[in-house]
Amino acid sequence: MYENPRLVLDSSNPPEAGSITWRSPSNIALIKYWGKYGNQLPRNPSLSLTLSASCTDTQLEYAFKDEAHGSAIDLDFFFHQSENEEFKVKTLAYLESLSAIYPFLKQLKLTVRTGNSFPHSAGIASSASAMSALALCLCSLEDKLFGTLQDGAEFDKKASYLARLGSGSACRSIFPHAAVWGETSLVAGSSNEFAVPVGDLIHDTFKDFHDDILIVSSAEKAVSSRAGHALMDDNPFAEPRYAQARQRLEMLLGAMRTGDLETFGKIAEDEALTLHALMMCSNPSYILMQPDSLAIIEKVREYRAETGHQVYFTLDAGPNIHLLYPGDIIHEVRKFIEDELAEHCENGYVQQDWVGEGPEEM
Ligand code: DP6
Repeated sequence: MYENPRLVLDSSNPPEAGSITWRSPSNIALIKYWGKYGNQLPRNPSLSLTLSASCTDTQLEYAFKDEAHGSAIDLDFFFHQSENEEFKVKTLAYLESLSAIYPFLKQLKLTVRTGNSFPHSAGIASSASAMSALALCLCSLEDKLFGTLQDGAEFDKKASYLARLGSGSACRSIFPHAAVWGETSLVAGSSNEFAVPVGDLIHDTFKDFHDDILIVSSAEKAVSSRAGHALMDDNPFAEPRYAQARQRLEMLLGAMRTGDLETFGKIAEDEALTLHALMMCSNPSYILMQPDSLAIIEKVREYRAETGHQVYFTLDAGPNIHLLYPGDIIHEVRKFIEDELAEHCENGYVQQDWVGEGPEEM
């Protein structure tokens, strides 16, 4: 939808070299995106909270190169100050895939310097923050070179679209507080092609919400998200699952509008367990939860029953537990984590995070 052969630089009037930097956060899905088709299109709408502390800083340097240097994309890539061949190959493939949208990329010498706020080895999904940060840099670059993304809402929409092409969940990181990705009659303007902000549709309590990420294991996942999505194609429960996600989105949006934490928490936990159940009944089956993940889940449910504190869990496609709770019980919950849950974490590691305002240009 954004193919544009006019985005080509005039070599008789080349742009000055420059650089752009964005910081972009990760996000945690409450209604999960699990199953896709076509070019990165979701089988069901998903909803996430935008985080703050888990983020990626990406700097994009660019300089005009003359035609003599050939027409392949010219990229140097540094991750935490070191050249990184694996990320470079992935980023090159991504940039090449954008050639009809951004034909000018081939006319530039590009250098990407990127790094995460969290240890790379923490086992926290970094594709959402990384791909959203890069997409934002590309949109800023377009606007600098051509002045074509002056409108803030159009800028965000295109950044979300480009982020989606890199990693589906990344399209939701562009917006403050909360976002929905995937067409649904419940959210005006929603689309399978990009996410839309829904911060205005939710109660203020969710804008002061915490997500402490309990790192059960930082080992690389046995089955990647990409492979997991693909296994949904032959999962016999796929269709009922997609219908269920739609129903739950409706219930969740209602609960988030009114600030109904019990319903919110129930749906968040049910979604997490459904996601992992889908993995267990894929062919081949696989399990990403670990004994410590289950131990934490049980303790969280017991703690809630005993204290009445509104603390809930969710998981993404891995063994780590995200603890979701409102800001007014932070002291109680942090003590609970320290006393009871940290012992289940790798080296006691907990990444503290909270709902945030979205990406910022640096
Ligand atoms: C379980 O966005 O990582 O975290 O589009 O293949 O890059 P790709 O997948 P990815 O999948 C995320 C799956 C999830 C749920 C979610 O974030 O909605």
